[in-house]
Amino acid sequence: MGNEVALVTGGASGMGRASVARFLDRGFDVVVADLNREVAERTLAEFDAGDRVRFAHTDVSDEEQFEAAIAQTVESFGKLDVLVNAAGVGGAFGPLTELEVDDWDYTFDVVLRSVFLGVKHAGRVMRAQGTGGAIVNFGSVGAFAAGAGVQAYSVAKAGVQHLTKIAAFEYAADRIRVNAVAPGIITTPLIGLTAEDLKPVLGTVQPLPYAGEPDFVAGVVSFLASDDAKFITGEVITVDGGMIAAGPQLGNLVNNNPALNGLVGVNRGSTGQKSKVHRTVEVAGTPR
Ligand SMILES: NC(=O)c1ccc[n+]([C@@H]2O[C@H](COP(=O)([O-])OP(=O)(O)OC[C@H]3O[C@@H](n4cnc5c(N)ncnc54)[C@H](O)[C@@H]3O)[C@@H](O)[C@H]2O)c1
Repeated sequence: MGNEVALVTGGASGMGRASVARFLDRGFDVVVADLNREVAERTLAEFDAGDRVRFAHTDVSDEEQFEAAIAQTVESFGKLDVLVNAAGVGGAFGPLTELEVDDWDYTFDVVLRSVFLGVKHAGRVMRAQGTGGAIVNFGSVGAFAAGAGVQAYSVAKAGVQHLTKIAAFEYAADRIRVNAVAPGIITTPLIGLTAEDLKPVLGTVQPLPYAGEPDFVAGVVSFLASDDAKFITGEVITVDGGMIAAGPQLGNLVNNNPALNGLVGVNRGSTGQKSKVHRTVEVAGTPR
């Protein structure tokens, strides 16, 4: 039967790299498909996993190259069980009125077309193998709200998340599961922010008070690719320290209102029934 086999795009850096580490720990054979040869070669050397991890120099927005990376995986290790579409760039940024169409298209090519190409060609191979499979795509919290990411990137990630559901539906009969992770703010080279830089949003915009690390997301990727997730397909799992759950945080406005500080009760609105309120504890400063 041999080891399970995964192809991880963007596996040279950040969350792709952390996912590769998880798969190697679980005894997989892995191919890293990445555009950055220099970083990929350094990463592979650091894994120290010998022939169990190989590199495929690939631009995932190019159909022939993506197909070739999948063919290389099957040639090297005999099959393909898991595809992780982690490659990504920030893409076009700036006011919509100023964005260049070429930059918009580049963003869509790298972020969305690549995932379509992966889903298309891995789907063909997995279907022919007849043993099922798992595909995990990288979405983003940017797909959920206008204020959570740059425009072209966020629209493309919304496409990735919807494509995930479309593919899950189409491939289910072949026991190929397709899911996505939607990371929040994760300290990778892509965003170039450290845990220290993120301090102002920790415990506030992001409710969990510690910074998002690549391995937090890789753990979810590894789970989605495993048999523990055998009944999960078409799902987008947000991995964001509670940011999207917190939403606009109007509750904070209320909680931070000194007039309400330390009060507890129930507001029965305009029912004509009596509301109640009493002072609970004296809270110094801003309540959490
Ligand atoms: N870091 C975050 O906060 C964050 C949040 C939400 C979603 N994401 C998404 O997570 C995924 C991983 O990002 P990361 O933060 O680990 O970034 P990263 O920059 O550390 O790694 C991305 C990798 O993708 C590779 N890549 C880029 N374009 C490519 C192409 N055309 N072909 C092949 N490889 C290519 C890069 O060379 C790099 O190795 C991306 O899809 C990103 O959009 C990141």
